[in-house]
Amino acid sequence: MKTIQDVDVKNKTVLVRTDYNVPVKNGKVESDLRIRASLPTINYLLEHGAKRIILISHLGRPEGKLTPETTLSPVTKTLKKLLPDQTIGFYPLPEKNTKIPIPKEVKIALLENLRTDPGEEANSKEFIQNIINAVDADLYVQDGFAVIHRAHASTDAVKSILPIYAGLLLEKEIKNLESAIKNPKKPVLLIIGGAKVEDKQPLIDKFASQADYIFVGGKIAADGYKSTNEKIIVASDFDENSAGDKLDVGPVSTTKLAELIKDANTIIWNGLLGLAEDPAYATSSTIAAKLIGEKEDATTIICGGDTTGFVEHLQKTDKNLHYSLVSTGGGASLEFLLEKELPGLKAISS
Ligand code: 3PG
Repeated sequence: MKTIQDVDVKNKTVLVRTDYNVPVKNGKVESDLRIRASLPTINYLLEHGAKRIILISHLGRPEGKLTPETTLSPVTKTLKKLLPDQTIGFYPLPEKNTKIPIPKEVKIALLENLRTDPGEEANSKEFIQNIINAVDADLYVQDGFAVIHRAHASTDAVKSILPIYAGLLLEKEIKNLESAIKNPKKPVLLIIGGAKVEDKQPLIDKFASQADYIFVGGKIAADGYKSTNEKIIVASDFDENSAGDKLDVGPVSTTKLAELIKDANTIIWNGLLGLAEDPAYATSSTIAAKLIGEKEDATTIICGGDTTGFVEHLQKTDKNLHYSLVSTGGGASLEFLLEKELPGLKAISS
């Protein structure tokens, strides 16, 4: 896989596909994880003399419609906050065969939500070609790890126009996820939580052969998940509310999980273990997050939106928590772990 370190970016206009599909409420970005995760690539390009950086992304599933709810413009404010020394502008997607009038002093330009044009999801070569022409892009960088499982214009069709170089976020995600499935340091522990068993079962099945232990908590366990595989340990005691709802993994199973975490050299955690949005039921998830975050030599991977949000929140108050990867990908990281073919990854030049 070619990365931005394999190409001279000096004086080049670089088009960077990011994944800024972030939660936005009343025009405000609610989690900047994915935006912060794009900074290493942006800073690398700036430090290596790129002339200009054009950022493109989708937001949500607007089905080709641009409305105040589907615009990507709120992300501009977050970028300005994170890159206070840069001149950053926001521009609409270009009309056919027109240039985007970006003033000389604008070093970083963010374009409107790609999915507000049907061409993006239709994997239209003309759509992405028009953007490339409109900004006079010399280089194309794929850094939107979270969207590489989609065959869209900015992840797939673009490959027939320009060579695609991987950005630093994409490279980091792939390296870490790969190290968990290809010759991982043993023992390997997969921790599964969350509510939807149908989403997690493929991961459990895949890791049933390659992990040493699989711990199952969350609503999946509370709903009575059963397995005859002795590697699979399902939480068996729970903290309950007054109505008897099982809302967190109880102390006996949490102690067992703590032992597994201490012993493991590779840990993949997907899904919260209890109803952690309520502090009363966040105990087992907090214990797991702390024990994993304090491990020194292990490969530790956190994936899934709720779980990554949870550990990010803990990291704000506990600076000692460190993870090899807090993945920005939801579906993409699951599909990567399941070793499915990812169109956006296949499109990157080798
Ligand atoms: C995500 O949030 O998982 C990615 O941005 C992909 O979004 P999508 O599922 O709408 O394609």
